[in-house]
Amino acid sequence: MITRNTIDKVFETARVEEVIGDFVNLKKSGANYKGLSPFVDEKTPSFMVSPVKQIWKDFSTGKGGNAITFLMEHEHYSYPEAIRFLAKKYNIEIEETEQSDEQKQQADERESMYLVSEFAKNYFHDILLNSEKGKAIGLSYFKERGFTNKTIKKFELGYALDDWTAFTDAALDKKYDLKFLEKVGLTIVKTDTETSLVKKKFDRFKGRVLFPIQSMSGRVLGFGGRTLLTDKKVAKYLNSPESDIYHKSKILYGIYQAKQSIAKEDNCYLVEGYTDVISMFQSGIENVVASSGTALTSDQIRLIHRLTPNITVLFDGDAAGIRASIRGIDLILEQGMNVKVITFPDGEDPDSFAKSKSTEELREYLTENAKDFIQFKTSLLLDGAKNDPIKKADLIRDIVASISKIPNNIQREVYVQECARIMNISENVLFNELSQNLKKEQREIHKKQSNTQTPFTGVVKESKQIEKVDRLMVLESSLIWVLLLYGNEEVDFVDYITEIDDEGKKIINKEDYTNTVSNEIYVNLQEDEIEFTNPVFLKIYYEIINKLNQDQIIEIDSLINHEDTEIAAMVTDILMDEEKQSLSDWERHDIWPTSKKDQLPKFIPDVIYNLRRFLVKKLIGSIMEKVKINGEEKNSTNSNQELLTEVNDYNELQIILAEKLNRVV
Ligand code: CTP
Ligand code: MN
Repeated sequence: MITRNTIDKVFETARVEEVIGDFVNLKKSGANYKGLSPFVDEKTPSFMVSPVKQIWKDFSTGKGGNAITFLMEHEHYSYPEAIRFLAKKYNIEIEETEQSDEQKQQADERESMYLVSEFAKNYFHDILLNSEKGKAIGLSYFKERGFTNKTIKKFELGYALDDWTAFTDAALDKKYDLKFLEKVGLTIVKTDTETSLVKKKFDRFKGRVLFPIQSMSGRVLGFGGRTLLTDKKVAKYLNSPESDIYHKSKILYGIYQAKQSIAKEDNCYLVEGYTDVISMFQSGIENVVASSGTALTSDQIRLIHRLTPNITVLFDGDAAGIRASIRGIDLILEQGMNVKVITFPDGEDPDSFAKSKSTEELREYLTENAKDFIQFKTSLLLDGAKNDPIKKADLIRDIVASISKIPNNIQREVYVQECARIMNISENVLFNELSQNLKKEQREIHKKQSNTQTPFTGVVKESKQIEKVDRLMVLESSLIWVLLLYGNEEVDFVDYITEIDDEGKKIINKEDYTNTVSNEIYVNLQEDEIEFTNPVFLKIYYEIINKLNQDQIIEIDSLINHEDTEIAAMVTDILMDEEKQSLSDWERHDIWPTSKKDQLPKFIPDVIYNLRRFLVKKLIGSIMEKVKINGEEKNSTNSNQELLTEVNDYNELQIILAEKLNRVV
């Protein structure tokens, strides 16, 4: 186990904006940073990081927390994995307490799979660079293809010996578990169906050069292995199978090496193959990733979208491939991103082209040949369509279909104008076609949305019942919010005390007093025996009151980083909700007072009185319910009399509370 000392050090050192900045493109926005949610597709930023509070919040999904919880949510790390990751990032030495055998066994399965893959990457890289056969076969192959030592090291390329068990033996020798070698697909295990004993085990990759495939944060997820044979019967590439850590449709080859450059250049080049990425990178174009030969997916596009809204797709010079990949363009447009397309001369791909040109020439070619998708589609299809009205009409429909994927109105209009110009057709006709497409799409979106629920954010209007529950939630969360932010503050309060004088006349005395916020709330809730109904609020409240009773001050940090993740999440939630207003496109629920601290003398009694009134109203309701039942049973009119007196008392209390509320507010 990692020691408390190390964990504390990690918390002291890690900066949430730096940690998240490795995964999400953050832009400064006032005191905070904002960016696109890494958890959903979206066009307007709803993800926010507060460097002051050291927390983050994703308003689209409701997730939020500190640096650790971000890594747990986003990278799917366990708590210790996240601590280890941060310790490594910030060069903090990890102290560990002794692990029992049992604890060792319980170590996370995924972590074991990552470890095996990391070992494999290092092993194959070492074989390539340092073994006789690796150098003679693998390394000389890469050299022949023009890859420099620097490049080979940057991408940690490897070589698997032409041997059935070389890798598996080495891994078992280093005490890696066969179970995980099999799970990541590096070892293929054959078992006897009767005895279920291992009959045979052998390496997946044999006599191939290897390209390690890494996540955005650099974890090894799998490998692509290229054969060195020219035999057409042997598959050119053999890849790791899908596993708990390797999902082909969710990763992009090269993203780890490219991410910084993508964000900096604010553009991402998308190519097809491993070698395309590496050759372009070596030629100085570092913002490049590959979809690895498969059709582009929304998940892959989203990965890029975290870093930049601009994608430039590079197509090899063969028409069949281009036609197959065209759908990818619509997927990019759908995410509100800008897409450009570059094609290469016949028979060339980015790899061969990059090699035959100087860096300057390559750069020049890329800038001069980037077309927007309309120019691209027309150039691709118009040749055969020029004199064929039917084909021309099809092409126009095709282009308008793409335009209708664009979420932004202005952008759509610009493209319609361009299309009209290029295709020599009236804009009106295009707008007509476009609006039909949009209507159809809207209907589909509507169908989809009616199935999804929105999480709690404030007042919900659907039903009376929910409104009531949420009213209570709003009041309770308001108290917690005040306690968290101003609990230690001294505030001047006013109270109005009603007395009956000797002549039986009501007199109202105004009383000024000073109290800390936390004490004021505590005393008031005590007095009425009010408890928080929300269990997480209750937990937070007790934490705060405990501190108060020990004469200690409330430290928000200790709650944000609380080991009870429910507490940590809720505190983050409440703290970030007030930042929501700075996300311009986000509807803000007016829960918190506008100008904060100077409103406290009013805000606190306001919430407390309202809470009381709410609870009293509920009490009256439940008593009246009883009265009704008694009435129906017609047997206990006496007790009904008592109950009605009770209701009367409560009604009077309601009036007093309302009066007090009026005076104070
Ligand atoms: N690919 C694959 N399996 C294959 C063929 C291709 O997974 N049998 C994927 C690989 O990710 C490959 C990409 O598709 O990188 C593009 O294929 P291709 O252009 O044929 O390969 P290159 O990467 O260009 O390899 P090379 O330059 O060595 O021919
Ligand atoms: Mn190629």
